Amino acid sequence: MQIGNDRVRVSVPATSANLGPGFDALGLALNVRDTIEVTALASETTEVTVVGAGAGEVPSDASHLVARAIRVGLEYVGAPAVGLRLTCHNVIPHARGMGSSAAAVVGGLVAARALISDPEALDDQSILELATQMEGHPDNAAPALMGGGTVAWMSRTEDGELQARATRIEVNPQIDPVVLIPDTRLATKAARAALPAEVPHSDAAFNAGRAALLVAALTRHPDLLFDATTDRLHQAYRSAQMPQSALVVERLRVQGLPAVISGAGPTVLVFGTHDARATEDQAIAGIVGGWDEDGRAPSGWQVTRPGVAAAGAWFEAM
Ligand code: HSE
Repeated sequence: MQIGNDRVRVSVPATSANLGPGFDALGLALNVRDTIEVTALASETTEVTVVGAGAGEVPSDASHLVARAIRVGLEYVGAPAVGLRLTCHNVIPHARGMGSSAAAVVGGLVAARALISDPEALDDQSILELATQMEGHPDNAAPALMGGGTVAWMSRTEDGELQARATRIEVNPQIDPVVLIPDTRLATKAARAALPAEVPHSDAAFNAGRAALLVAALTRHPDLLFDATTDRLHQAYRSAQMPQSALVVERLRVQGLPAVISGAGPTVLVFGTHDARATEDQAIAGIVGGWDEDGRAPSGWQVTRPGVAAAGAWFEAM
């Protein structure tokens, strides 16, 4: 495989995973997008400039997650390991449960697709598979790649290998998600360490039913979102790691709003609707305080309605 373009740009959305009962399975793409500009270099060096979220915190060499993902993609199709100059314009906040690492991984893999002479060689299934190997779970990678709402699962191939799969669901246009982002951070690894190895059968059965209901609520019956967003598999186990977020979810739900922890937290996601926006915003302001036009509340929470991202990661030659 040859390099076909030596300057490309990738846009990749934030994502919210779990959505309440759909642990490691359900995901939603949000219209908050990171942009990655990539130049393939003749030398073997890797230079990374980060603007925005993560600037000064993430590595600026070949160990940067986007650079690693590009190399994984190039290696997968047998393309030469070129040098890279990356500029990452990051808007997705880090360690908040909004899929910043999945955006970096999927963004890097889509950049590899954009660089090679036959982009079809790195198709969506290959990217999902490679991204899941890097991430450990497919529920953020799927919507980052495909856009909209997604259901992801692991399936056994004929060779007995575990393979990530995903399908898209069409989110009802009435749904207008609200994200409440706190100042605090939580690493996914730590949040996963808080989960028990086993759960009661009754809790597993409860979540299976609610996750199925959530697909119906997200697509055709938004009026069922409140019941559909209850969870017994992860949120309560993690509440000690994000007590403020747990309290905000509880208070929002007391007000009748379908609130969940976004991914591994600590961001809170509310399934708002366009029609009820005014009353929802009033209830949210009553809990985290009013916010200015940048979405900043005095309590430190940032509140926005980013919209569902219909498009997953896309690329263009520069
Ligand atoms: N399903 C994953 C978790 C999402 O909750 O650990 C992490 O972003």
